[in-house]
This record gives sequence, structure tokens and C-alpha cells, in this order.
Amino acid sequence: MQNPQDVQSAAEFVRSRLDQTHEAKTAVILGTGLGDWADGLTEVQSFDYASIPGFVPSTVQSHAGKLTAAMVGGHPVWLQRGRFHLYEGRSPEEVCMGVRTLAGLGVENLIITNAAGALNPQFEAGGLMTISDHINFTGRSPLSGPNVDAWGDRFPDMSRAYDKDLLELAHAKALELGIRLERGIYIGVTGPNLETPAETRAFRMLGADAVGMSTVLEVIAARHMRVKVLGISCLTNKNLPDCMAETSLEEVIATAGAAAGKLKRLLNAVITSL
Ligand code: HPA
Repeated sequence: MQNPQDVQSAAEFVRSRLDQTHEAKTAVILGTGLGDWADGLTEVQSFDYASIPGFVPSTVQSHAGKLTAAMVGGHPVWLQRGRFHLYEGRSPEEVCMGVRTLAGLGVENLIITNAAGALNPQFEAGGLMTISDHINFTGRSPLSGPNVDAWGDRFPDMSRAYDKDLLELAHAKALELGIRLERGIYIGVTGPNLETPAETRAFRMLGADAVGMSTVLEVIAARHMRVKVLGISCLTNKNLPDCMAETSLEEVIATAGAAAGKLKRLLNAVITSL
């Protein structure tokens, strides 16, 4: 079931408590290891998830759990620092609460970042990848149940889930900055367990270049509300069936942290060009 009243209350709560107007058309969801983005960014005001009605506190320690109004190079943005995951036992509606609240606050462009394992053998750990398309392998959708017509269509189109112009802008800025930026297909799984070699091989055969435990439901909710999406994965580990290496959360966080500098520079450049 979708929760339009909860979303409206959350957006109204945030809007009514803003100390100054913040007309941001762009929002960024900061994934694992990226929640502490500070350079190039001025924080205007933050709201702990625990204080926003309808939000659930994040249980993942690597995720901060704050909605922040900020300025990036003179541009107002919203930051969703920390997200909700199916593996925490959250429902698809809880996972998408942030995205829908941001849309309710007037956001039109959503930049979704995440940590993902590289399935494409040509991609390196520590690299960045724009998401050109996704495979929702979670078996869930945030749109099940009665449709909220005020939000979007019953059967929203997904033929172009990731915005072509935003994708091209990201690649143009990466080129200017000398940042290597891969492009590929993201497969979203529920986790929290990592993949077996057989699953990794199967996902590669399905056409995926990276695998992760977030993003796909948020993108579906965003596109339902006609919010444009740019997705960028931090490739934190190589996930290859014939040379599987053990992956730990510590490694994922450390590698995401190491790639974060590049991602922040790229985000600064993209946001200031919007
Ligand atoms: N698999 C799934 N999710 C992930 C991975 C992975 O290898 N790395 C970071 N998130």
C-alpha cells in the first residue's frame, strides 16, 4: 500500500520548519560511505529522520539518517543522507519514503548514488559507473496496491528510467575533470547476503554490470512521480564468479570512502551545471 498522507505530512513538516526558503529542484541520495560529503557544500539545515513524521530511523551504521538542505556552488539541493533498505526488513514504501518526500518538496532531478559490486570484469574496484538501466531483481515494487493517481500512472513507463540528458551531462563533466566513468546496467537485489558464484554468473548472463542492494525501488518511485533520475554507483569490490573474493562491509565502506573524493567532484560539477 502506498502512503500519500504520510508523504504529505513529512513534506509539510520539513517545509514548515525550514528557517529560510529552500527552492531546490535537485536532490542527491548519498549511499554507503558518502554520507559525510562536506567539501564544496554549505549545509543550510538538517532534519534527523527520527524527527520527521512517517520516517523510520536508519538502522545501518554507515548511513547517517538525515535530510539536509544545502547549497552546492550557489545551487540549492536536498541531500538524503542515508536510506532505507529491504534487507533491514523495511517495506518498499518505507524504502521510498525519502524519494517521495523529496518529490513532494518540489524536486525534479534526483541523483541516486550507491555502493555496488562490479560484475563486468573490465570495471575496477574504486571506480565509478553511471547507471544506464536496471534490472529489479528484488521481486518487489513500491507501486503495488492501489495507485495514487495524483502521483503517477498505474503502469508507468520504464523504457527510459535513467535520464539521457543527465547521463550525458555526467559523462561530459567526468571527461572535463579527468575522472574515469564507466556506464552500465545495475541489478538490484534484496541482500543482505552477498552473492554466490552461481548468482554472480547468472546476473552477468542477464546483462548486469554491477550488483547492489538499493536504488531500483527508489528509481521506480521517482519515475512514477516523473522525477528525472541520474544513478551513479561506486564500485566497491569486484564480484566475479571465477575468482570470488570474500567481501565485507568494512571493505565496501573503505573503498566507497576512497572513491568518494571523485564522486563528490563529479557531483559538484553536475549540480552546478543543472
Ligand atoms: N553485491 C551486492 N551488493 C553490494 C556489493 C556486492 O558485491 N558490493 C557493494 N554492495
